[in-house]
Amino acid sequence: MDIIFATSNLHKLNEAKAIIGDLFSLITPRELGIYEDIPEDEDTLQENAIFKARYLWERCGKVCFADDTGLEVDALGGAPGVRSARYASDECDSRRNMQKLIKELNGISNRKARFRTIVALVIDDKVSLFEGQLKGSIINSPSGSEGFGYDPIFLPEGYTKTLAELTSHEKNLISHRGIAMRKLSDFLKSML
Ligand code: IMP
Repeated sequence: MDIIFATSNLHKLNEAKAIIGDLFSLITPRELGIYEDIPEDEDTLQENAIFKARYLWERCGKVCFADDTGLEVDALGGAPGVRSARYASDECDSRRNMQKLIKELNGISNRKARFRTIVALVIDDKVSLFEGQLKGSIINSPSGSEGFGYDPIFLPEGYTKTLAELTSHEKNLISHRGIAMRKLSDFLKSML
């Protein structure tokens, strides 16, 4: 069965393929000839995920899903949250986003944070939602070269390595997106 994943992020695509790629063929919008950037202007992760999945579904009519993830930092009242990609600037620059976050947390001892992912699946105009969370803390000096985004400064709870120091397999086993994708996978399997 073909399923369209609303992403152009190769890291995310590979993470998703490792979880649901055995049973389903994951196709990106580009492979369908859809090249436009899908807007992510909503106020919540859930609204963004639903908007992106519906946007694609309206164009191709196939089973579509989209995810939206935010890094929620306790001491910053949940920021950057839904604005995680464009925290420092409109450029979606991970290095600058991390620098800004480290600066905002300067002198603050509560470093608790969590990644939260919402996956929205659209089948025949019906939306289903799946959530995954990963708790951890923010460190001051980036470490590791795997992954993407805020991975080099995120230390998962109970770990001494950042997400960027874990292999993609190790990250997938514990990550917010891994958890949400496994819920999606179980749901899709139950429909076969
Ligand atoms: P997206 O809208 O789901 O792509 O996520 C928004 C932003 O959150 C991304 O641009 C990254 O900066 C960050 N992000 C999402 N997922 C991860 C992750 O697994 N690790 C680190 N940062 C992430």
